[in-house]
Parts: sequence; C-alpha cells; structure tokens
Amino acid sequence: MQIAETLHELRSARQQLTGRVGLVPTMGYLHEGHLSLVRAASEECDHVIVTIFVNPTQFSAHDDLASYPRDLPRDLALLQAEDVALVFTPTPALIYPPGYQTYISVEQVSQEKEGGARPGHFRGVATIVAKLFNLAQPQRAYFGQKDAQQVAVIRRMAHDLHFPLEIVVCPIIREADGLAMSSRNVYLTADERRAAAIIPQAWQRAAQAYDDGERHPNALRALVRDHIAQEPLARLDYVSLASARTLAEQDSPTDEPLLLSLAVQVGRPRLLDNCLLPLALNTREGASATLGRVE
Ligand code: PAF
Repeated sequence: MQIAETLHELRSARQQLTGRVGLVPTMGYLHEGHLSLVRAASEECDHVIVTIFVNPTQFSAHDDLASYPRDLPRDLALLQAEDVALVFTPTPALIYPPGYQTYISVEQVSQEKEGGARPGHFRGVATIVAKLFNLAQPQRAYFGQKDAQQVAVIRRMAHDLHFPLEIVVCPIIREADGLAMSSRNVYLTADERRAAAIIPQAWQRAAQAYDDGERHPNALRALVRDHIAQEPLARLDYVSLASARTLAEQDSPTDEPLLLSLAVQVGRPRLLDNCLLPLALNTREGASATLGRVE
C-alpha cells in the first residue's frame, strides 16, 4: 500500500494503476462503515484509492472541525489489512493554499434538510469531492447511504460537470442495537449512547407502517416524530419523506421510491439516519439505482 502526501506523489502513483480504479473518499477515523466501502471497491475494481482528509470547507464556524476525531496511524493500519493500493493524506494547505478561490455550489438538491441545517456544508463537500475526482481519476467512487443527501449532491455535481465515473452507494452499517455507525458516535456518553437506539427504532416503525400499506408522508413523519418524543435525551431536528431520486419533499401519497431521513440531536452530536422505502431498496444495488440518481 502506497501513501501519497503530495499532489506529485499522488499523480505518479495513480499513473501506475491500470484498469478500473475505485475511489473511497473519507475524513478518516475509520469504522466498519468506511471499511465496507473499501471492500465493495476492492470487489468491483482492479485498484482501490482511499483518501483521508478532514475537509475544513464543509464545517461551519459552530461545527466541530478542531475536535473532529482523528487517528491517522490507526486508519493506515486498518487500510493496510484491506486490499488498498494507495492512500492519499493531503494537508489543508495543499488542498486550499493561500489565495484559493474556487468552489462548487450544487443548487436545488443542497438546499433543504442537511443543507438548511448546515449552510455551506454541501458547497464544501462538492468542492472537495470534485477535486478528489480530478486528482484520483477513478472509474467508480464509493459513498455510504448514511449521508444520503450528500450522495444526491455528489451525483448531481458529477453529472453536471461531466465526470466520467459511476457512483456506487453502499448500505448503512449498524451497531448491534441498530444505531448507524458514525465517527461522531464517539461523542456520546453511555446514557446518550443507549438513548440513541431510539433513532433506528423510529424509522423502523414508519417503515413497518409503510409495509402495512401506509403511504401518506404526513402519517409516516408523525410516526417518527412521536417515537423520538418518547426519549428525553433525543431532540428531533427534522424528519423528511422525500423522493429517493430528486430528494424533493413529498406531501401526498406516492408509490415512487422514497427516502425517509432524520437528524436527531443526542447530547453533543447530531446523528443522521435514513432508509429507502420500500425496504428492499436498502442494498448496494437498490440504493445505487435509486438514491439521487440523475438520468
Ligand atoms: O462523507 C464524508 O466523509 C465526507 O463528506 C467526504 C465525502 C469524504 C468529503 O469530505
């Protein structure tokens, strides 16, 4: 496994990789969710490139950039045990040198939900991901369904800017009690960690109702809201029922694939979770074919 720290090192290592290259962009502090992306990439591609970069432009002033968890030696050891050809670990000064002025803004799909809660977040995400696509020149890029709106923003950006690559969306990896894995789970106290299990329970309740025939988005949203309200340590930020393709919020019953997503504050971290409806879509193939798909 090669490690590249400079643009020159990355470009010359990339030149030596022939065949299909899969890219897994990460902000490090790797967990099984990230490793599932790496494993999917190594199943489908000839070579895997992983990037580790805590991207400052996707954090806002009140976000947790300085205290975002980092452990590069541990990350590299985890990747060493996987089938990874190249790891790119740039510094912020390399990616955004003094005088830097170019950003990518994806409009409609960035606006609501996470975009509403974290202004500027998706501008930072689209910018860094476009840079990584340019640098790594992958044929496929792998992202987790957990950040569902991020997937839709990246797909729109890749389509609009004519990046010749395929975006693969991998299912959410969960702890034993159903909590979606996230680097931010490390901030939870023991009581908050127990309370956070309410999040997957809430969407499962709505998904069960959907399975039983409930199609009204307001009724499904209400089930999630009522369930989260039972847990005093959890505060629902939003629950969304949106088109899985466009992420447009739905107000009337539909049989189109839906994305049920929610953000919940539990102590310090704001935790995200989601599922595609019908539930059979929550696979690599199902999510890749629907979530944020641009025709
Ligand atoms: O999902 C993440 O970890 C980040 O948003 C990404 C895609 C690596 C861009 O910084």
